[in-house]
Amino acid sequence: MNKHLLSAGDLSAADITRVLDTAAHLAHVTDRAIKKLPTLRGRTVCNLFFEDSTRTRISFELAAKRLSADVINFSARGSSVAKGESLKDTAITLEAMGVDAIVIRHGASGAPWRLAEWVDAVVVNAGDGTHEHPTQALLDLYTMRQRFPSFDGLRVAIVGDVLHSRVARSNVLALTTMGAEVTLVAPPTLLPARVDGWGATVSYDLDAVLPKQDVVMLLRMQLERQRAGFFPSLREYARLYGLDARRLDAMAPHAIVMHPGPMNRGVEIAADVADSIERSVIASQVTNGISVRMGLLYLLLGGPAVAGPGGAAGSGATGQDAGSAAVAAAGARARGGPW
Ligand code: MLT
Repeated sequence: MNKHLLSAGDLSAADITRVLDTAAHLAHVTDRAIKKLPTLRGRTVCNLFFEDSTRTRISFELAAKRLSADVINFSARGSSVAKGESLKDTAITLEAMGVDAIVIRHGASGAPWRLAEWVDAVVVNAGDGTHEHPTQALLDLYTMRQRFPSFDGLRVAIVGDVLHSRVARSNVLALTTMGAEVTLVAPPTLLPARVDGWGATVSYDLDAVLPKQDVVMLLRMQLERQRAGFFPSLREYARLYGLDARRLDAMAPHAIVMHPGPMNRGVEIAADVADSIERSVIASQVTNGISVRMGLLYLLLGGPAVAGPGGAAGSGATGQDAGSAAVAAAGARARGGPW
């Protein structure tokens, strides 16, 4: 795996599997009364957020804290950035304070790449403009893997505002790497100009696509990023591309509904579909985000691979303590001794 996680496209199938397997072991920590492992004790993770976020920032914070890292939450508002300090100066300041990892969200596409040139710390892209959101893709794949035995030939439709979505791009990269068949569904105005090169099928007709899918992922209509009229009205959009109860019925009985959040209920997804206990895995996506980010921080900050099923964690002990013990033991070895 690379030093940083900037793009989902930098991850091989083996890397993705390793992150998901590590996350699955670490997920057991979340079920415990005391939700903490000492693995990253003494390491410092900075959440550097230049854009608003609820779930991603909290999820990274909880992930780092559950591994016992120290966490700094930096938001541009109320910091020297508000006084005009540049990203570079901010980065150099953080590095001088000894942070080991910087989790960055920025409105400018490409900002995490610049940051990675300036600092020695590990950089994780938590969303850059309309470009990428690789940890969202990883948690989405983790959630799919809970329901489906393999990505090979898995049919995933990603529906909506692809043009402004960093989630769509990262998911297409990760899913196609794993062998899934992705279909992007949107009105032509909400598809990027060079979408043909993405390795996904494109359709403008949601009703034609729906019955064939295993996974239907709705994208948020990113009204704050839209600088033109991309469709006649939200009502019209919902009529043609919104997932409502009628369309849910047209899906295969085993198919699941996903959404990265935050949702525009009544636009890309009807409220009863979002809350459907049988079909919607949206709440699981949020829960899984913590384990996946724990797995990622664990791997990027120096932990060796956790043994998969049949490996050290799988032999002998089973269940919660086996996974956690394997991660803890691996962490101890990596750090050269007991904590
Ligand atoms: C993002 O930050 O991209 C979110 O997770 C998805 C969205 O904002 O629609």
